[in-house]
Amino acid sequence: MQEYYRQIENYELIIKKFINDKTPQSIKIILKICITLVFHSKKPHYAIVNEAVEFSKRFQKESLVNAVLREFLRKHDSFSITEKNIPEMFKTSCDKVFTSKKIRSYICDSVFNKPNSYQISLKNDENNFYKKRVAFLEDNLHIDYFVQDIGNFEIINAIKEFFNDKEILDVCAAPGGKSILLSTYGFKVEAIDKSQSQIDKFKQNIKRLSVDIKIVKKNFLSAKINRKYNSILLDAPCSALGTFRRNPDVISKIDKKKLKVNQDIQVKMIDRSLILLNKGGILVYIVCSFHYFETMGVIDKILQKHKNITVENIQSDKMIKKENGYFINPYSFKEYGGSDIFFVTVLRKQ
Ligand SMILES: C[S@@+](CC[C@H](N)C(=O)[O-])C[C@H]1O[C@@H](n2cnc3c(N)ncnc32)[C@H](O)[C@@H]1O
Repeated sequence: MQEYYRQIENYELIIKKFINDKTPQSIKIILKICITLVFHSKKPHYAIVNEAVEFSKRFQKESLVNAVLREFLRKHDSFSITEKNIPEMFKTSCDKVFTSKKIRSYICDSVFNKPNSYQISLKNDENNFYKKRVAFLEDNLHIDYFVQDIGNFEIINAIKEFFNDKEILDVCAAPGGKSILLSTYGFKVEAIDKSQSQIDKFKQNIKRLSVDIKIVKKNFLSAKINRKYNSILLDAPCSALGTFRRNPDVISKIDKKKLKVNQDIQVKMIDRSLILLNKGGILVYIVCSFHYFETMGVIDKILQKHKNITVENIQSDKMIKKENGYFINPYSFKEYGGSDIFFVTVLRKQ
């Protein structure tokens, strides 16, 4: 399925040669799945066609599907999937925030490649390749390692110095990557999350690693929280656009309406965090997205509303500085195969 989404624009352009604008969406999807199977599976072509024809009977479009697929198979050697067509919305989102042409083309090229996965050690180890903590995740997760993207690791490394209190409230904590990493640097993390299935994953992770972090099931937007904190981490829910290499479905699913809904929630979560923050306290806002609405757009809204909030400077040669926050620069991790793209802002309450 990953290949279906990675190449979705290429496949869209191929099927356009055989169908017209009136062809129903369901039939277009069937045709694109078949093209994915032709290019990426060992399934015999006759079996792909037979199954598709059978399935499309429920839409009474079996003759159309049969005709298009047979015509496509006659010519399929002439179609190249080396072209790098990407949905327009993805490209414009990228153009809006990354001014460097080199970085933009690196990002767009990486849509078509399977990414490396990384595992992070609980302790420094000379054998690891980045800051003595990062290793590739190939077949097995090592004991005392947990899965985390290298960009995620960079963020926590870069922001940990702002937390001058050893106690941190992590308000969207599950499945626990950031909480676990912070605890390896000696922070005591109080974790909350609203999703039971995610909390179960968090508990499995900390049990496997013997890390002592308590997690409580709470909806951060509505739960009673009776005390204030000096350090809050908000790794907010988002479109996950920055994880497009691992989750290529996000490439074709970005949608302005959903992004606006996400932005409202993100702003509300920051508002709530600021209420719970002591004067002088630090709130770190992170999203695994690079869409303007979920990143700089959120911080713009916060800075307009709260005049007592300032943005701190982060020191990292792996990030791109913007007016009110930083993006992980995937190009800076080129030698390790790139990274997911995150946005991070460190806010101080004056
Ligand atoms: C981006 S993930 C967090 C990833 C996590 N920080 C890590 O590093 O592994 C966002 C999380 O926010 C949680 N979430 C969404 N809305 C929430 C809410 N209102 N209150 C608490 N948690 C929420 C989701 O269940 C999800 O686990």
